[in-house]
Amino acid sequence: MKGVVLAGGLGTRLYPLTYTTNKHLLPIYDQPMIFYPIRTLVKAGIKSVMVVVSGPHSGQFIQILKNGKELGLEHLEYGYQENPMGGLADALKVAEDFADDESVTLILGDNTTDADVSKEIASFEKGSIMFLKKVSDPERFGVPIFDRKEKQKIVGIVEKPKKPPSQYVSTGLYVFDSRCFNIAKGLKPSKRGQLEIVDVQDYYIKEGTMKWYELKGYWHDVGTFDSLLEANKYWASKSLNH
Ligand code: TTP
Repeated sequence: MKGVVLAGGLGTRLYPLTYTTNKHLLPIYDQPMIFYPIRTLVKAGIKSVMVVVSGPHSGQFIQILKNGKELGLEHLEYGYQENPMGGLADALKVAEDFADDESVTLILGDNTTDADVSKEIASFEKGSIMFLKKVSDPERFGVPIFDRKEKQKIVGIVEKPKKPPSQYVSTGLYVFDSRCFNIAKGLKPSKRGQLEIVDVQDYYIKEGTMKWYELKGYWHDVGTFDSLLEANKYWASKSLNH
């Protein structure tokens, strides 16, 4: 199992903070944002990681992450996504050679969680895993549609639904077997011009090999000022109370 952290995008919702640096290098309490998803992978036993970067501040990552040893990584590689807005599946494609036919755990560089997913990842064999979280505002996220009869089975994912079919949302943490790269390479851009990760997930859903687990503990994606503030507060209080 290899790890892939996506740290492309432009972080436009955080302008002007992201005029001079990449969103994933902004602080969450006492650490750069990208440390959090990397630590999630390390905690899950994944020590070989690619960070996919893009955009005008790509060169800054190596100054902060270096060879990854300080975070407990054994191997850290950098990948470059040519189009910073190409989409998550476009960024995933960059990691194909790095994955070298192994499965990958993919995490978005702006996701922070204290969940321990080592068991779920250790028992993974084939197909894909989605990690879900119950939230009060599912209309902001990708929401799974569950089968009417087999309530535990996901039959689709709907993006930012006006009437969410459940309180669960898809977090930015995924596991895929090595077929994900060929699936991503076969995708066409969506209406917003991106290669969508949900189209990769759809393949596994249709095949019947998509599993899901609820992410236990704190989880937040940090794309807006409010969520950045809230994540800062959470990690500061967690750190100060220990
Ligand atoms: P988003 O938050 O959807 O996009 P963004 O980071 O560019 O922010 P904004 O909407 O404010 O402009 O991206 C989610 C995560 O995925 C984030 O960690 C960046 C990463 N990402 C890539 O690595 N490549 C991409 O092509 C895109 C769109 C996002």
